[in-house]
Formats: sequence, C-alpha cells, structure tokens
Amino acid sequence: LSSVEVDLSDIPEGAAVTVKWRGKPLFIRHRSSEDIEVAQAVDLSTLPDPQADNQRVKVPQWVILVGVCTHLGCIPISGGGDYGGWYCPCHGSHYDNAGRIRKGPAPLNLLVPPYKFLADTKILVG
Ligand code: FES
Repeated sequence: LSSVEVDLSDIPEGAAVTVKWRGKPLFIRHRSSEDIEVAQAVDLSTLPDPQADNQRVKVPQWVILVGVCTHLGCIPISGGGDYGGWYCPCHGSHYDNAGRIRKGPAPLNLLVPPYKFLADTKILVG
C-alpha cells in the first residue's frame, strides 16, 4: 500500500505508536502541551539539523515521522534518550519529541513523511 490511513483517536496523550507504511515504521506521537512547549522553546542554533518545531508538524499535538535513524537506518526506540523523544541504540543517537537529532552520530532529523489530516483525528500518510 502506498498510502495508509491512521485513526489517531485511540492514541492517548503522551503515547507514541508505530504503524507500518511502505515497509517502514511510521512513528506517531501524541504530545502533551508540556511536550509542545519544550519542543518550541529549543534554541535552533543548538541543533545539528536546525528546524523549528512548527516546520515539522501540521498540528502541534501530533508528530508523524518515518522511524528510521538517519545514521545507518536502525529503528529508534520510543521514549528513550536524553531528550524525551527517541533513542537509536545502534550507535547512540538521541532525538527529541519532534524527531530532531540532538546528540549522537545521526546527521539529520527523522524524516517527516507526506501526510494530511482527513479529520481531527484521522490522517492519510503517503
Ligand atoms: Fe542509529 Fe547509528 S543507526 S545511531
């Protein structure tokens, strides 16, 4: 399937889930208002791949990412690492809750796939 529809209504605030899209893991995180504040407050000059939070999300509560580490392609673990996002155990890359690389060998942020909201809690990815 080239596109996948995902119902977000079952994903509680604070949770992150993984679904499959084009053979790859797709990470979906339901951020709390605190998560959003933290992500928006980051000084972009400290980022290896500087991107504002609002360049990476369409709706602040929902972060949608391709779950493939930009170093050598391992699948990061949700909730791990020093920045409350994802941690790649292969060589120690730490991503924040917007999927931005913060520490470790990965050169780039986790990729944001093409997607759109079909309703408040339904997205179409791809
Ligand atoms: Fe993720 Fe190397 S593949 S840190």
